[in-house]
Amino acid sequence: MEKITLLQDKHIVLGATGSIAVYKAVDLASKLTQAGAHVDVIMTESAQKFVAPITFQAMTGRPVYTDMWQADSSGGLPTHIAHVGLGEGADLIAIIPATANTIAKLASGQSNDLLTVTVLASRAPMLIAPAMDGGMYEHPATQANVNTLVERRVYLVDPDVGRFASGLTGRGRLPDTPTLIGHVRRVLATDALRGKHIIATAGPTREAFDPVRFISNHSSGKQGYAIAQAALDAGADVTLFSSVNLPTPIGAKLVPFSSANDLLEGVLEASSHADALIMAAAVADFRPAEQAEQKIKKKGDDEGLRITLARNPDILKTLHDMRQNTPSAINLSVVVGFAAESQNLLDNAENKVKRKGLDFIVANNISANDAGFAVDNNRVVFLHKDGTHETFDLMPKSQVAEAIIQRVVDLLD
Ligand code: PMT
Repeated sequence: MEKITLLQDKHIVLGATGSIAVYKAVDLASKLTQAGAHVDVIMTESAQKFVAPITFQAMTGRPVYTDMWQADSSGGLPTHIAHVGLGEGADLIAIIPATANTIAKLASGQSNDLLTVTVLASRAPMLIAPAMDGGMYEHPATQANVNTLVERRVYLVDPDVGRFASGLTGRGRLPDTPTLIGHVRRVLATDALRGKHIIATAGPTREAFDPVRFISNHSSGKQGYAIAQAALDAGADVTLFSSVNLPTPIGAKLVPFSSANDLLEGVLEASSHADALIMAAAVADFRPAEQAEQKIKKKGDDEGLRITLARNPDILKTLHDMRQNTPSAINLSVVVGFAAESQNLLDNAENKVKRKGLDFIVANNISANDAGFAVDNNRVVFLHKDGTHETFDLMPKSQVAEAIIQRVVDLLD
């Protein structure tokens, strides 16, 4: 698990309650810890029927709290007094999984175990991820309790629909760990881009020449998705145009695209109300001039196929021209491009900054094996419109994304 900057040294109180899904919370505690958070687990009595405290302790490397009346390690105060501080110092209290019983107790303000005492005493942001067997989540009593908590600004992770331990199916399953971490990130997001709308684009264009075949490139979408996530971590509203099938970052609005023309249309529409655009999508400069209605059949044994290519619109250049000619149609204050180069990296990228009217461009060498297309790392240079450069060593795409978002924050300021 990669470190997550947003989670570095965050204090998360993880309240584990008595659902079979508590075994998934063990994985969550492990991943949050690996990502850089300090995770203090409080288990209810029934949670301990499913998983032992030592399991969480092994994952987090920290004591696990279970008993309201147990003295702390120095033999002094009972746990609930000694560790009320847990909730006070927390950046987040996340109750995962949250049973119908604990949700009911929280809604009515009961405090008869260590977890509910801690919640009541704390003013930290709170998240609940309900998990319960068939029919229980939809029951009007549970729904009323959940609504009460949501009205109190508790962040709700909607349970998934699926099969329960009982064999019944319905809504009430705990989402998987990456989804839960995505929700935790939503709650902990900073305010750096609060109220700002960022457009990120990710993945390759696909230019069809018959109903089953297309011309494309090696973009995996990883860099663009990392940018969307970094913008979300900064508190932005994010629209992510994507042509790939990666898990949507929690909180992003996903808009699928296929061809350059699709992407142009979508980006133009979104640009009328967004603050910044970051174009990591790998857009084809050419498309087949014609698209056959039926699958093209082979002719003869040796005969090849000639495809004539036509120029695609340049999305960034079109936006640049529109910003100059019809500024009221484009709200964007900041536009960031990428330059995928296999030679003359800096010269080619510098030309693109000027021609496409960019605030800065992120130049990467796509002929490298360890960076660029499809891998998890990238080695980039930022070329700013004032002619200055910033050169970065090889680093995870998530860190490249954070550096880009930091520059966007500065520019929007
Ligand atoms: O997706 P990954 O596997 O993570 O790989 C990341 C990446 C290598 C695809 C990414 O880092 C990257 O370099 N993206 C830009 C790819 C590209 O199209 O570069 P370009 O130099 O051809 O285009 C320059 C800029 O103009 C780009 O921002 C591009 O989105 C945009 N463009 C290009 C062509 C076109 N017709 N319209 C455009 O707007």
